[in-house]
Amino acid sequence: MALDTALSGHLPVLLDQVLDVLTPRPGETLVDLTIGRGGHSEAIAPRLGSSGRIIGFDLDPGNVSFALRRLRESLCLVETHHANFADAPALLRRLGIRADLVLADLGFASTQMDDPQRGFSFRSEGPLDMRLDPTARVTAEQIINTSNERDLADLIHRYGEEPLARKIARQIVAERERQPILTTLRLAETVRQAYGSRAMRSRMHPATKTFMALRIAVNDELGRLEALWDEVERAAQEACSGSGWLNAGSRLAFISFHSLEDRIIKQRMAALAKRGEAQRITRKPITASEAEADVNPRARSAKLRAIRIAPPH
Ligand SMILES: C[S@@+](CC[C@H](N)C(=O)[O-])C[C@H]1O[C@@H](n2cnc3c(N)ncnc32)[C@H](O)[C@@H]1O
Repeated sequence: MALDTALSGHLPVLLDQVLDVLTPRPGETLVDLTIGRGGHSEAIAPRLGSSGRIIGFDLDPGNVSFALRRLRESLCLVETHHANFADAPALLRRLGIRADLVLADLGFASTQMDDPQRGFSFRSEGPLDMRLDPTARVTAEQIINTSNERDLADLIHRYGEEPLARKIARQIVAERERQPILTTLRLAETVRQAYGSRAMRSRMHPATKTFMALRIAVNDELGRLEALWDEVERAAQEACSGSGWLNAGSRLAFISFHSLEDRIIKQRMAALAKRGEAQRITRKPITASEAEADVNPRARSAKLRAIRIAPPH
């Protein structure tokens, strides 16, 4: 192992459960759609052996190169791509690669959240950025300072499920008229002001839902997830005739961290199962044990769902 988990700055969630549902076998090909710091892939690699292969994708070029370095010493063939997972199927088709295992561990890595310069955290001062892909065009700062009040309120309400979205949007517009809102702590304070005395009663930080909504919007998280599932559905149909980027019998595992993502995954998996194009591996989402959540608080909100693409009859 070239770089261990402590150095990676990110603990992979539900690791044993991912291994259980994916059941990797020698010679198989893993497509890790969110390779991140390479933790899951590193644990899967020995089971694929020297005839196995890992193709990794990530929006964050820093994570892509870190994961590649981490996996350098694994027996199997590894290649990584700086790309959105919604674009992965097209690339796999072009390269003629067919997956036996697919993993999508959604959201962000701890290293991204913990770096104040990335602007994800309302606890430390930094630029209002929130791009998982630093080469992407739109930042949180642009959305906050250029959207009209109604669009802002809709965004915070839809993606953050924040009941005070209208009040918060009004406060943001009033504040930015005084001076553009450029930093995380100024936005967090603006949201706190909108909460007023409710801030004292709130169990979570008042800015939690607003920050989550902005991150989802900046990275078009739900749009990209739907686009990926369109490709999974197409590939599930093709798998029966031995074409496409998913092998018949391939196992797909998705880990989500908020209800909007989980809803999409649950509905898309159910639709595939209903049409007989996949079988459920998990009936209910698998969640972390108390012991794991104690060590890794991020695991507390993780939900793992898995399906198997139906083999031809
Ligand atoms: C929870 S981390 C993955 C951690 C990884 N499983 C590990 O063990 O180190 C999520 C990763 O997904 C990436 N990501 C999020 N949305 C993405 C997308 N649409 N396409 C590609 N990568 C994405 C993030 O940049 C982040 O590195």
